[in-house]
Amino acid sequence: MTAPPEHAPRRVPSGEACAVAHPNIALVKYWGKRSGPGNLPAVGSISMTLDGMTTRTRVRFLGAAGDDRVCLDGADADAKTARRVRALLDRLRSLAPEAGAAEVESSNDFPTGAGLASSASGFAALLVAAESALGLHLTDDDRSRLAREASGSAPRSLHGGFVEMACGRSDDGRDAVARPLLAADDWPLKVVVAVIREEEKEIGSGEGMQRSLATSPYAGSWIASHPADLEDAREAIRTRDFARLAAVAEASCLKMHALAMSARPGILYWRGATVEALHAIVALRQEGLDVFFTVDAGPQVKAVCTEASLPRVRARLSDLPGVRRLIVCPLGRGARLLRPGEDAAGSPESRRREGA
Ligand code: PMV
Repeated sequence: MTAPPEHAPRRVPSGEACAVAHPNIALVKYWGKRSGPGNLPAVGSISMTLDGMTTRTRVRFLGAAGDDRVCLDGADADAKTARRVRALLDRLRSLAPEAGAAEVESSNDFPTGAGLASSASGFAALLVAAESALGLHLTDDDRSRLAREASGSAPRSLHGGFVEMACGRSDDGRDAVARPLLAADDWPLKVVVAVIREEEKEIGSGEGMQRSLATSPYAGSWIASHPADLEDAREAIRTRDFARLAAVAEASCLKMHALAMSARPGILYWRGATVEALHAIVALRQEGLDVFFTVDAGPQVKAVCTEASLPRVRARLSDLPGVRRLIVCPLGRGARLLRPGEDAAGSPESRRREGA
């Protein structure tokens, strides 16, 4: 039997599907786009996919023309989010023109838009659900490219464990795709997320990175020093060298925030409690624990640690006055379809949460 052409619907679509995906956190940060369409990254990035926070998205195509309905956490999505969702659906609908308008219902069991990578898990889950609802069979790289057009960090949430997103060189972004580096079970680190503020951040990552690259005097050094950081992190992951990963991840995080802070006007994602948490993590490491920090475009602090260090990391962070609660995450799986009756969280371990 000859294979159907790429992108063609290969089976009768059900018209409806549900998928789950998890946020990822970058160890070597993506911050800045190169010119061209579809969120082409100016730098590559390396991340870990988490398993303690979940986006669940159901997509239903109605087979008739009309407006898409996008519901996020129980309410109509804001206009900007709805536009981004529609843009991704339109790309898929161009491969399945009979699909018609869609109903999308998505929910996060963690704060949305607060520097916890809800756009990465959201668009990864949307893509996987919509692809299945339309009966499409995309390649991994096609899925990566479509997810990237929606959100620069979303391709990384398509895969589990440690993932590298290439910045690529081509103008059409064909080589700007995410690939898995190491499975979660091969180095089962833990991440303790210290939630400091649940409110949505004031400056989104898209605007923040654009302003940083356009105005920071350090933009050139950020780009020039990036390949060495990627190489260092790749090697640390390959050899499971915690101290080496800690050094490069903290350096990349501080560089990214230095870039944002040195933009005009400057962008400061941190709060007082963010700085206190960073000091607490460094102190724990000086006491001999395997732990390091990273912070994305928001105030929350993520402590990456080994299983053995987890109890003391948890105890120290939960004692900090500005920390509202902790979310403890093992490393997790990539975006996947949810069959009827299946639990969104998957493994029982994936929902270990606690109040701070
Ligand atoms: O994918 P975006 O546009 O939300 O950007 C992500 C930016 C950071 O989270 C700060 C860094 C990263 O690599 O995830």
